[in-house]
Amino acid sequence: MSRSTSKKLQKFTWVTMFFGTVLLVYYLMFSSKSLFGRNEQNSYALYNLRNENYQREAIINELRRDFAKIESKIEHFYSKTYRRRSETAHVDCGRILSGDKDYLQTVSGENRIPMVENPNPDMSCSAVMDRIIPHDHILRPLKNGVAFARIVYKDYELVEKQVQMSYHPQNSFCFAIDKKAPTRFKNQMRAMAACLPNVLLLPDQEPIDSNGHNVNLAHLNCLRALINKPGWNYAMLLQNHDLLTKSVYELEQVYEWLGGANDVELLPEAQRLDEENFKWDPRSLKMFPDESKVDETILNEKIKFSKGGVQGSMSRAAVDWMTRKVNLSTYIDQWNQGRWGVDEMLISSLQISAFLGMPGHFTDQCLKEGKVTDFITRMVQWNFEDESYCASKYKRHNVCILGIEYLRSVASFPTLMFNKMLPPFDNSIIECTAELLYNRTFMGQNDHPLEEEYYKNMVTVLYHKHHKEHNYTLNCDPKYTSWQTRQLPL
Ligand SMILES: *[C@@H]1O[C@H](CO)[C@@H](O)[C@H](O)[C@H]1NC(C)=O
Ligand SMILES: *[C@@H]1O[C@H](CO)[C@@H](O)[C@H](O)[C@H]1NC(C)=O
Ligand SMILES: *[C@@H]1O[C@H](CO)[C@@H](O)[C@H](O)[C@H]1NC(C)=O
Repeated sequence: MSRSTSKKLQKFTWVTMFFGTVLLVYYLMFSSKSLFGRNEQNSYALYNLRNENYQREAIINELRRDFAKIESKIEHFYSKTYRRRSETAHVDCGRILSGDKDYLQTVSGENRIPMVENPNPDMSCSAVMDRIIPHDHILRPLKNGVAFARIVYKDYELVEKQVQMSYHPQNSFCFAIDKKAPTRFKNQMRAMAACLPNVLLLPDQEPIDSNGHNVNLAHLNCLRALINKPGWNYAMLLQNHDLLTKSVYELEQVYEWLGGANDVELLPEAQRLDEENFKWDPRSLKMFPDESKVDETILNEKIKFSKGGVQGSMSRAAVDWMTRKVNLSTYIDQWNQGRWGVDEMLISSLQISAFLGMPGHFTDQCLKEGKVTDFITRMVQWNFEDESYCASKYKRHNVCILGIEYLRSVASFPTLMFNKMLPPFDNSIIECTAELLYNRTFMGQNDHPLEEEYYKNMVTVLYHKHHKEHNYTLNCDPKYTSWQTRQLPL
C-alpha cells in the first residue's frame, strides 16, 4: 500500500465516524421530540411561519405604496407642463409648431385670440412670486447670467410674463418707466419690484416719446443700476413689446459664443439732426473725465456715425466702460436735441468708433465698403408696403405686428428676441413662445438646436476675437447667409 492510499483510508474512516455521530444525535432528538407531541409542535411552527409571512407581506406592500407615491411625485415634478392663461388654454402650440396649417387657421385671422386682461391681478408678493418663479422645476446655476434693461409704459401682464420667461436668480431685470405711463401700471411695476430682489425699478424719470427722446438716457440709467449687480456678462437693451425667443440657458450659450463682442445694429448714418451744428470729438463732448490719460489724437477725432435700433447686447466690459470710464452726458444731450429717431444713433456710433476703445467695439470699415454686418439681438419685419405683406396682415409704423403665424420663425431664427408682439392683438404668439421656452428649459425639449457656427462666424464676433493679431484682415462678408434673407413666416 502506498502512503497516499493509507492516508485516504484514514480520511474515509474519520468522515464515516463523523457522519455516524451526527445521524445518531439527530435520531435522539427526533425520538425525544416525538415524546412531547410532535404534531402540536409542527402546527405551532407553521402558524408562526405564516404569521411572519403576513407581517413581511404587509411591510413589503407598504413599501411598494410609498415607492409608487414617490415615483408619481417625481413624474409629476418633471411632467408639469406650462400653465397657459385661460383665453389661450385651448391653443395647441405644439400643433402650430409642427406646421399644421389647417389648425393654424382656427387660431389666426378672424379667430385670433387677444389677451383678456385681468382687471385686477393679485399683486401680493406671494401671488407675484407664484406667477414668476418656477416652483415645479429647478433651474441649474448659470456660468453667466444676463441683465435686461427695458423701457416700459404699458401692458403690465406682458411685462410680468417677460420676466417669467427669462427668470433666473442670476439674471437681473431693470425697468425704466415712461413718466407718462398710467398710475395703475406704475403701481403694478412697483409691486413686482418690491417682491423680487433681482428686479430693479428706476425712479420716475423724463417722459419718453415715440421719437426716441430720453430713450438712451433711460437705458443708460438702467445700465448704471445693473453694473452694481454681479452674475451677468451681457446686458440686453429692450423696449416694451420685445419678446425674448431664447431660453435662459440658450442666452448663456449664445453670449458665450459672442465672446465679448457687442451685438448692435450698424446701418449707414441717417440725418437725425443737423449734426454739423455740434462738435462730436471726445474733448468737446467731455467724454473722458481725466483727459491727461488719453491720447491727443483720440480726444480730437470725430465720432463716426451709424444708425441702428436701440435694442442691442452689450458686454459687461462695455457697460462698465459706458457707466464708469466715460461720461456720456453731453453726447446723449446732443442726440436728444434732434426731432425724431433720436435714440437710433448713440450706441451704433459708439460701436463703430473703434478709436474710442469701448470694449467689444467694431469698426466703420464695413459700412465704408457699403456692407451692413449681421445683428442677432432683434428680429423685426419691416414692411413699407401693404399690410398683406405681413403674415398677420397687421402693421404699425411700418413694422409687422407679430401673430401666431410667426411661431415657427420664433422657434427657428437665430435672433434672440422678436419685435413686436402686442397682447391686445394676439396673445397666442406670446403664450406659445412662453411655452416653447418653458419646454426647452424644463422639459429638455430641443426643437431647434442653436446654430453654433452661425454665431461664431459673425463678422463682428470674428473681428472681436482676432483684430489684435498682427496678420488680421477684416472680411465683411460672412460665410453664412444672414437670417435677414430667410423666408417669413415659416
Ligand atoms: C410643450 O411640451 C408639451 C408636453 O410635451 C407639448 O404638449 C407641447 O406641444 C409643447 N409645446 C411647444 C410649443 O413645444
Ligand atoms: C458728466 O458731464 C456732465 C456735463 O459735462 C457733468 O455735468 C456731470 O457732472 C458729469 N458727470 C460725472 C459723473 O462726472
Ligand atoms: C496669423 O498668425 C497666427 C500666428 O500668429 C497664425 O496662427 C494664423 O494662422 C495666421 N492667420 C492668417 C489668416 O494668416
